[in-house]
Amino acid sequence: MTQYATLTIDGKELQLPVIEGSEGEKAIDIRSLRQETGFITFDPGFGSTGSCQSAITFMDGEKGILRYRGIPIEQLAEQSTFVETAYLLIAGKLPTREELTRTSVLLNDFSLLHEDMKYFYQNYPSKAHPMGILSAMVNAMRSFYPELIDLDEDLNNTFLRLISKVRTMAAMAYKISRGHKTVYPRPDYSYCANFLHMMFDNPVIPYEMDNDMVRALNVFWILHADHEQNCSTAAVRVVASGKVNVYAAISAGISALWGPLHGGANQAVIQMLEQIQKEGLTIPQVLAKAKDKNDPFRLMGFGHRVYKTYDPRAKIMKKMCDLVLGKQRCRDELLKIAMELEDAALSDRYFQEKNLYPNVDFYSGIVLRAMGIPTNMFTVMFAIGRLPGWLAQWKEDSLDPLRRISRPRQIYTGETLNDYVPMRDRF
Ligand code: CMC
Repeated sequence: MTQYATLTIDGKELQLPVIEGSEGEKAIDIRSLRQETGFITFDPGFGSTGSCQSAITFMDGEKGILRYRGIPIEQLAEQSTFVETAYLLIAGKLPTREELTRTSVLLNDFSLLHEDMKYFYQNYPSKAHPMGILSAMVNAMRSFYPELIDLDEDLNNTFLRLISKVRTMAAMAYKISRGHKTVYPRPDYSYCANFLHMMFDNPVIPYEMDNDMVRALNVFWILHADHEQNCSTAAVRVVASGKVNVYAAISAGISALWGPLHGGANQAVIQMLEQIQKEGLTIPQVLAKAKDKNDPFRLMGFGHRVYKTYDPRAKIMKKMCDLVLGKQRCRDELLKIAMELEDAALSDRYFQEKNLYPNVDFYSGIVLRAMGIPTNMFTVMFAIGRLPGWLAQWKEDSLDPLRRISRPRQIYTGETLNDYVPMRDRF
């Protein structure tokens, strides 16, 4: 039986249906609000707004739960691979052995870039940020691969092409930025192993594949693969609602992810830890800066809009630090600072009262450093990982019968009716 919420405005009563999700979260359906009352809702940052119904990812920020298609992130990190998880997110089910093999074969087949796309890289300044390059390259793919998408397929060729080529593009951007020859993928390597190969192999020092590093990369990308309606995913859905092509929507997602409050936080965390080390700042000094309302500094890698407890991805990422650093038999001084900072913040009243805990980005940079990934590529790593999530959300959005073009309203606060003043009369 439908439950209703009653809203009284200007003496008029409105019955608004309540929608309940499969995990019990409730929403008031306000679609008739403006038409019935003339009122709109006001919710900057959309903290209390549900923009869609989605069956892809479930998060419980109070309990620290994250599940893709119902499967806990801990199980996927432990037992799955990135490619299998991508399949799960997009197709809505785990693949059979045959489906997974076919997916891997196609990912290999699609992994080369059109040679003409290479010229794009050459015209970028050498210091250009790889996120800007990646976003432009993905948008350009529409011109090179304009085939239509068959949404009936579990995992269509356009999606597979994107997942495969985005990895080649990222590695190529890195090689070109170093002035090195680009390295082509090898058919006998898995998706993650191939990325490491394309990044680090070179004619004079062949890259020795290390299964623990491949595992760590799988886990890193699984943890980033989707996160329901975050800033970049919302951007993908909003842009897609205008019926734009998938490449343009994903390119918008990459641009949205770039910001330091979102995906760019992994780079910002390392820069913060380096600054602490270089300037010899003490932990109490850093916390005081983060708490000072007159200082724009925030503790990067801390806090989250949804998680009001420890981010479950951060717990797994912290364990990955031990794996990759242990493997290299080295200690990263920045990890030591990070752990001290975490301990101090977690026992500080400001952080406790505001429920600020480490998020996935707090430890991910340490893992990426240990793999040899340069800092300016960190957010690109996040983007490669998030791509299956964006595609799953794009697909779900495209098939949603309730889909309308995204077009929020506003409360206008500017000048009321004003006359145009000719130039000669302006003082
Ligand atoms: N350091 C210091 N204070 C903080 C921090 C922080 N990292 N995060 C939030 N606060 C304070 C904030 O100043 C505010 O205080 P007050 O209530 O006195 O005004 C309160 O906590 C609530 O913060 P908010 O900015 O209203 O929260 P939000 O939900 O709008 O923002 C956030 C979430 C992630 C943007 C924010 O916590 C932040 O800037 N964190 C640092 C950047 C970061 O690590 N981003 C990665 C997020 S995880 C990866 C991803 O999924 O994108």
